[in-house]
Amino acid sequence: MAIRSIILGCGSYLPARVMTNDDLTKIVETSDEWISERTGIKSRHIAADGETTSDLAYHAAVAALDHAGVTVDELDLIVLATATPDNTFPATATKVQARLGMKRGAAFDLQAVCSGFIYALSVADNFIKARQARTVLVIGAETFSRILDWTDRTTCVLFGDGAGAVVLRAQEGQGTAADQGILSTHLHSDGSHHDLLYVDGGPSSTQTVGHVRMRGQEVFKHAVVNLADVVREALATNDMQPSDIDWLVPHQANRRIIEGTGRKLKLDPSRVVMTVDHHGNTSAASIPLALVEAVHDGRIKRGDVLLLEAMGGGFTWGGALVRY
Ligand code: UT7
Repeated sequence: MAIRSIILGCGSYLPARVMTNDDLTKIVETSDEWISERTGIKSRHIAADGETTSDLAYHAAVAALDHAGVTVDELDLIVLATATPDNTFPATATKVQARLGMKRGAAFDLQAVCSGFIYALSVADNFIKARQARTVLVIGAETFSRILDWTDRTTCVLFGDGAGAVVLRAQEGQGTAADQGILSTHLHSDGSHHDLLYVDGGPSSTQTVGHVRMRGQEVFKHAVVNLADVVREALATNDMQPSDIDWLVPHQANRRIIEGTGRKLKLDPSRVVMTVDHHGNTSAASIPLALVEAVHDGRIKRGDVLLLEAMGGGFTWGGALVRY
């Protein structure tokens, strides 16, 4: 017997405003052709003035609780992954906790940038396995538009805002890969690559928020290698073959990276959930946003095996195998 974390339900929220590639051509020297060809992005959502990460997270949380059929009183824990918190402190998770009316349990933020959702899922899964929590809300929420340098065309065209959430619940399983729920999670980091993808500000260094800086080509090369490694690791841990995967639900940074991972797994492209075209890179929110889209349109069904993977600043990267 083993305790498994079941995804009871999921929900997401996107700000109303849509910014297209053509809109961006009015801000920086770029083109729809360049952005589409290099990244696969056509449009992204941008938070309204005054709309914060906790607002997006709250709406995603309400949708996830509703989909899961779980009330706030049942929640033991909120883990919120974000690199764009409302404030330096307290945690954005506690703002969401208060707005939900959750009077017990704990709530905290977790920072692993684009790998944030995988990290948060892993932490929540381990709380459940350690019997420290039974029902956990895991959120990925970002307002990356607030930390972009809107004069830097190499970064500002890539990102968007949004939030996604899942509700996890403890359930007894057999401890085999046939179980429902999170089968395994795999986290990695390598801090020596800090300067390839970072924000050039922070409370302790500059006392400013700073802007995203990225050496895109270098990040791209590392992403391809690290993601292939973590995919292999996840499959080997569960004694599974690529053919056992029903859906690849990857971090949405670049269509070329996603397609490359899908090809390595010999997955039919129709089995790869792709939202980068209309979400852009929403960092910690991108995997749950993609998951919600494919669950709610009926592609992902109960019993399907999902491979989630992400790579981001730090570097951090990770993966999770889940039987939905
Ligand atoms: O989510 C965290 C993980 N992040 C990632 O995984 C991102 C990984 N990196 C990438 O996705 C890609 O490297 C980018 C999409 C960021 C860039 O694509 P690239 O094919 O690596 O382009 P590049 O950086 O090599 O730039 C090629 C050219 C340059 O011009 P020159 O030097 O060749 O004359 C850039 O100045 O494209 C130019 N360029 C642009 N042109 C039009 C850069 N940005 C733009 C732009 N519009 N927005």
